[in-house]
Amino acid sequence: MLRVRTIEDVVILDGFVQGITRGLSYPTGSLLKISAHYLPNFGFELSDDNQAGFEALSLKKYFEGWERAAKVTLDTIKEATRKAGFPVDNSHLNVEVGKIVVELLMNLAKADKTRQFFLTDIGSGDGETTSAVLDAICNEGAFELAERCEFMLVEPSGENAWNAVNSLKGNGKDKKGHRINKEHKVSITMVSGTNHDFLGRLNEGESDIIYSNAVFHHMIFPTYLDTLREGLAADGVLVIGDWYTTIFKHPALIAEILEDLGIDKVKLGEFRSLFNCSEGDEKKVYAGEDMRDEIITNYRMKHYIVGIGNAFLTIPEENRDEFLEGHCAFKDRKEDLEKKGFVTDSEALGEHPAFGGIKNNVRDVDPYGAAKVGAFAKAAKPPAAANGGQDKKQKLRAAA
Ligand SMILES: C[S@@+](CC[C@H](N)C(=O)[O-])C[C@H]1O[C@@H](n2cnc3c(N)ncnc32)[C@H](O)[C@@H]1O
Repeated sequence: MLRVRTIEDVVILDGFVQGITRGLSYPTGSLLKISAHYLPNFGFELSDDNQAGFEALSLKKYFEGWERAAKVTLDTIKEATRKAGFPVDNSHLNVEVGKIVVELLMNLAKADKTRQFFLTDIGSGDGETTSAVLDAICNEGAFELAERCEFMLVEPSGENAWNAVNSLKGNGKDKKGHRINKEHKVSITMVSGTNHDFLGRLNEGESDIIYSNAVFHHMIFPTYLDTLREGLAADGVLVIGDWYTTIFKHPALIAEILEDLGIDKVKLGEFRSLFNCSEGDEKKVYAGEDMRDEIITNYRMKHYIVGIGNAFLTIPEENRDEFLEGHCAFKDRKEDLEKKGFVTDSEALGEHPAFGGIKNNVRDVDPYGAAKVGAFAKAAKPPAAANGGQDKKQKLRAAA
């Protein structure tokens, strides 16, 4: 089995994989886009010594991909997503994020009638998530609450940030025709930055609610949770909407995608032998109980990736994206949250002022569990490894 311990090892391995998949309409991209939970299946030996370097390189790889993406790339992906016929899409996730954020806010507002709220949207894109929160406020008729809220949107893409500010200016028209930003004063600030540097613009412990949709499957190590925990008030809540699949968890599953993307047999054999896999190994990956939803979800995800690959055949090579991402299973995300000092268990949350009356803090948006929205409170006690996390974050900043 390969042993990947250093950046040099990654560069060599990525070179092999990219050599094998060159010429495909949808190449893999760097293995450092895969969730750290699954990197050991690809020969990675993660340690305190190499994690910060790997994480910095991973962020760089993601940013390079976004820089390469042109309008034609995004339009082609959007069209392929529509054709894939998923029962839900990103806008469904945003609506659910909006609803749960407002349920939490209303509880906090009831407990303290004069409290002002600071809300932070991480990876705000062009503003759809915050727009869904404002819509949910309107649907509840909670205009007085809206006036007690200040929003900060954090987004690394300047173009997205610009679009967000413009679209949110007139957002949130309820049935009675109230306009949340014309008639009700809601303060919205944009910060052009990433989850790793947003604390520089925010006082620690300032956010009452941090919410984020469809962002964290681009972050392969959970160090972002250290930053977000620091940013939350003592009774603060983190709301995450995201996609959960395990399609990238094992080389055998990636070999299946390559096969469906039309890779030739010799190259497929090279890919498999690089990771000591044989044809049919995907069955071993799926062996075990309760795998039904995972198998269905991954099958749909594979079909979606291949659909994008086919659509990319019609656009110039330099505008094509790469398919590996940091998706993980929800149970892995939950484990990260618990380790990083968040309360995830609905019974334990019953005591929290924001959660009174909220029974299901994790909600399925997709029938097979591929899209979920969850609300998690900052635990009173910091995690045992909190200082380790801090050190790693400092190393990461230094490495970046
Ligand atoms: C799929 S979009 C989701 C946008 C929006 N939240 C929504 O659901 O409509 C992912 C967004 O995350 C942003 N993003 C990527 N990496 C980030 C990081 N490290 N910190 C903050 N935002 C990031 C991207 O620029 C992009 O706008």
